[in-house]
Amino acid sequence: MSRKKVAIYGGSGYGGSELLRILLFHPEVELVFVTANEHAGKPIREVHKNLNGFTDLLFLPAPDDISTIDGVDLVFFALPHGQALNLIPQLPGGVKAIDLSGDFRIDEPDIFRKYYKLDHAGQIQAKFTYGLTETNRDAIKSAEYVANPGCFATATLLALAPLVKNGLISGKVVVDAKTGSSGSGAKPAANTHHPQRMNSFYAYKPFTHQHVPEIEQHLRQVGSFDTDLIFMTHSLPVSRGIFASCYLETSADLTKEDIGKIYSGFYEGSYFVRIVEGSPDINWVKTTNFCDIAFHTSGKQVVVFSAIDNLVKGAAGQAVQNMNLMFGFDETTGLRLPGTTP
Ligand SMILES: NC(=O)c1ccc[n+]([C@@H]2O[C@H](COP(=O)([O-])OP(=O)(O)OC[C@H]3O[C@@H](n4cnc5c(N)ncnc54)[C@H](OP(=O)(O)O)[C@@H]3O)[C@@H](O)[C@H]2O)c1
Repeated sequence: MSRKKVAIYGGSGYGGSELLRILLFHPEVELVFVTANEHAGKPIREVHKNLNGFTDLLFLPAPDDISTIDGVDLVFFALPHGQALNLIPQLPGGVKAIDLSGDFRIDEPDIFRKYYKLDHAGQIQAKFTYGLTETNRDAIKSAEYVANPGCFATATLLALAPLVKNGLISGKVVVDAKTGSSGSGAKPAANTHHPQRMNSFYAYKPFTHQHVPEIEQHLRQVGSFDTDLIFMTHSLPVSRGIFASCYLETSADLTKEDIGKIYSGFYEGSYFVRIVEGSPDINWVKTTNFCDIAFHTSGKQVVVFSAIDNLVKGAAGQAVQNMNLMFGFDETTGLRLPGTTP
């Protein structure tokens, strides 16, 4: 069978870099073109020096009109929020799309406008499937367009979904989440670039983070979720990784073994979710598509920890996992990679 042809819009950023690192070694796909904005015209290997020796492709300029693109089965969009909103509606029929931005994650127009300060996608939103692979597999398999989840949303949802699905949460949920600096993308800004962050630790976007409505919306799709969510984001002085600590109370006393059965049942067949003892560590998931989860109980009190690589399971890796399902490949194709140690 011939390989599926894929393209990337926005290949010169951090999400695009990880898409390239994975797709260049994917046995079932051929990368046909990759676009950039300021880096258009340069060889990929000059921009992403880790890929030197692996590809001779150049970054193409991104056209405003993509209605005539040809010879492509699927397009990844790894562009800043707001760009794919105008591009994906132009795609010719039969071309699938996976968007890594937040443009198509929120169904409710008013909520989208409030958090993203952009016009909502409108009718085309109905064509999008939310791409948290472990909770939405069947829908993703037949999806035309996938809205790939946010990185904080992925870590939080994977930590909470088994309890929500089983209707076990009572009272409010507090999520204390931290990200490395690569979460802000490749372009340095005064308040987000690494020299400012490497010796510091701070909280940001209290009650206003755009992943809050995404998490609430999807928890309501997973099960009955009508409790308050307090979600707080922090900057970690590392380059990659997300760590989420989720605090909650359950409706009944549960032992660690009870919770263990719930999580192992929920994630049976989910290769990329690993239940670990003690605490996950961003060190053991970095550069991989794994989400490591640990939990602890004391009567009705439960704490669940989860760790992912924001650029892999939180972005490009999950996007490829979704592509695999959309094309009928094994979900793990091209993604069974261990991390590095230390
Ligand atoms: N970073 C993460 O951890 C993460 C996780 C999950 C989801 N996401 C989402 O994924 C998307 C990409 O994030 P990122 O971190 O990869 O961002 P990034 O490093 O800033 O890369 C952005 C990409 O978009 C291109 N671009 C910028 N402005 C453009 C324009 N006006 N027209 C066309 N192309 C343009 C850039 O090209 P040039 O560099 O050549 O200008 C670059 O290829 C964002 O929506 C982000 O929210 C990011």
